[in-house]
This record gives sequence, C-alpha cells and structure tokens, in this order.
Amino acid sequence: MPNSLSHSRRDLFRFLPAASAVGSWALLQKALTAAPGAPSAANEDYWKVVKNQFPLEDGLLYLNAANVCPASRAVMDRHLEYLRDFHANPSFQNRDKYEPLAERVRAKIAAMLRVTPDEIALTRNTSEASNTIVKGLDLKAGDEILITDHNHPSNNDSWKVRASRDGLVVKSLPVAVLAKSSQQLLDAFASAITPRTRVIAVTHVTSTTGIQYPAREIAALARQKGIWMHLDGAQTWGALDVNLHEIGCDSYAGSMHKWAMGPLEAGILFVKSEKMDRVWPSIVTAGWSGKLVGARKLEVYGQRDNPRLVAVEAAIDFLNMIGMNHVEARMRALTTYAKQQLREMPAVNLKTNLEPELSGGVIKFDLPKLAPRAAYDTLWKRHRVAIAVTDTGDAKGLRFSPHVYNTMEEMQRAVAAVRELQA
Ligand SMILES: Cc1ncc(COP(=O)(O)O)c(C=O)c1O
Repeated sequence: MPNSLSHSRRDLFRFLPAASAVGSWALLQKALTAAPGAPSAANEDYWKVVKNQFPLEDGLLYLNAANVCPASRAVMDRHLEYLRDFHANPSFQNRDKYEPLAERVRAKIAAMLRVTPDEIALTRNTSEASNTIVKGLDLKAGDEILITDHNHPSNNDSWKVRASRDGLVVKSLPVAVLAKSSQQLLDAFASAITPRTRVIAVTHVTSTTGIQYPAREIAALARQKGIWMHLDGAQTWGALDVNLHEIGCDSYAGSMHKWAMGPLEAGILFVKSEKMDRVWPSIVTAGWSGKLVGARKLEVYGQRDNPRLVAVEAAIDFLNMIGMNHVEARMRALTTYAKQQLREMPAVNLKTNLEPELSGGVIKFDLPKLAPRAAYDTLWKRHRVAIAVTDTGDAKGLRFSPHVYNTMEEMQRAVAAVRELQA
C-alpha cells in the first residue's frame, strides 16, 4: 500500500515541526532526510515535506518569490522565541547574547556565499545595501556610472540622485527583452566603458524580465579596467547557489525576505575586503568606532531589531539543510517546466530566456490580446494565483516566480490557469 503509506507520512511531516522551536529542528531534519531520493529536483515527496514547513493558506497558489517569500515555520518560531526573550528581559545583561548570535549569522551567510565574515554587513534590505555603495564611494564630477535600464530603482534612480548632486554622469544600457547570449550582454558593457567609467552597477537576475547577467565576466572586465562592480543580488541570494569568491564583484546586495525566506527587513551587503577602505558609512551613530572590523562599519544604525536579526540564522540553516545546490536545482525545475509550457501557448509571448545561464527564478510573459492587469485580476479571482504584474513598457506582462515551497502540481495548475485565459 505505498500510497496510503506516503499519505500518512506526509500528514505526519505536516504537523511535526509545530512542536517547540528547538525540538522542531531535529524533527524537520529527520523529515527532510526520510523521503527516498531526497533532495533531487524531481522527488515530489521531498519537496512536499519542504512545502509543509510553510503555513501558507490552503488553495493559495503563491508564485511571487521575487517580491516577498513566506517565512517557514522554523523561522517564525525562532523569531518569536527571541522576541519573547528580548521583551521579557530587555536588560543589557540579557541582551549581551545577541551580539555573538549576530556574529554566528554573519559567519553562516559568509560561508554560504564563500566569502569571509568580515566582508558581510547585516543591513535591512537590498535597497539599503545598494544605497550604501551608491553613497559610500568617493566619486567626483564627470565620473561615469554604468547601469542598465532594468536595474531596480535602488540601483538606478539612487545613482541618478547622487549624479545630480555631485555632477556624475549616469549611462544606462538598454535591455533587449530576450537576451541573445551572455557574450552579447558582456559586449554591451565592454563597449560602453570609457576612461571616465568608475562604477558598473548591474542586476544579477532582473526582476523585470528575469535576465541573468554574466556577473563573473562583467566583474573580470571591471577589474581589468579598475572599475568598481556592484551586483544587485535581490533575485539571486537564496535562489541561486551564489559563489561571490568566484564571481569576484566588489560588492553584492541582497534581502532576506525574498528567496532566502527569512524575516522581513533584514538584508546583506558584501564588500570585498581589499576594497573595504573605499566605502564610507552612510550612517554613523552610537556603536560606531574607527575600530570596527570590515563591513561591520556599514551596519551601525542605532538600536537594531536584535530578535529579527538573529532569526535570520534559522533561514540560513533551513537553506543549508536542503543545500543551496538543491534549492537552485528545484527552483530551476519549476521555472523550466513553466517556461516550456508557456512558450508553447499561441497567445502567450514569453519574455524570459530558457537558457540557465541567461535566467533564474523570474518568469515574465505577456498575452498581447489581453491587458496584463485584466489577466492578473482573473488569475487571482478565479484561481487564487498570487503573482506580480507590469502594466506598460518593455517588461509589460505577468510575472511568475516560484520557489521551493511550490509543488510541480501547483505549477501545472498555474499553467492551466493561463491556458484558460487565452481561450
Ligand atoms: C532587483 C531588485 N533589487 C532590489 C530590490 C529591492 O529590494 P528591497 O525592497 O528588499 O530592498 C528588488 C525588489 O524587488 C529587486 O527586485
């Protein structure tokens, strides 16, 4: 009776981690290793166990990881545990433990990204991390900043604001809706560089059409020319198995509440150690001292939300328990399936590349005969498909961004819902 057996196991897994926050980890680990073949991308049993760690509403088809991911029960439990601890005893004596705990978080994040803890600042989100670079570099009138039209405002408008204040020149590269090749993307940067270029600020995977930029090659080009290379990792931290040592960029920004499935308003900024002296802190307050080591100088914001900060550890542990390589492989299996299906639909214009080196977890598509907003509303009202929409411009359309808490069956339902739209 393999069917009823796997059913009862699923039910068990669903309720196991609801136990105490500490006990739940051992049980979760047990559940994750119990599914045969775990954690290969095609092992639906394993990924259903993962899904059951997220108390998402029944019937909700949540495909908006690129915006905000739900936190797992383990993350929420840990957060609540620390929140209660903090407010039960806010004395300095009790709060002393939060600093070493934050250092543990920093070390785990650094290990995951293959850099050193001193190179990681614990920020509040990607926007803050990128703005720390925008504001923190010494630049003078006439210096050129190279960005792309599809950078997020935190890595685009932020540069324009600084440019109008300091007389910098921002050059923005147009973005083709489907990329021809990584080489073509690299060439566009190569030909836009001038002797005045000081910074290249690019998005690893865009939130608009989901292009993955060849970060390593762009970083190598920048290095050759003595140009700072900032990488916006909002759509790759927690989604791809990012190796910053290999990429070689000078700085990288990310948010915990997106693909890393951590608490809201927690983020990271990586700055390469040999370049650390070149970044000025934007905020200086109590706790500042010239003796802070490495990127710690970039996270002195006054009183921090310690319980939230240290709850980040649970999200990192969760990702590590699965393995970032498996997280990426599963996310890619879900997106590849959806892209292949969407590409076959006559009424659908797929705006995201299929090639893994040119894409990540973001899928954009348009139904030219239907206003994106109407399609978005119908998907929500009829099927409770929660996604993002862009009404106008070259990135016009609907955005799907599935993650490890989505099952293949959900992807099939989402695709069927789009098929119904075109009928
Ligand atoms: C590419 C990119 N960069 C930066 C951000 C900003 O992230 P946050 O709001 O967490 O600062 C986003 C948000 O969607 C994004 O997609």
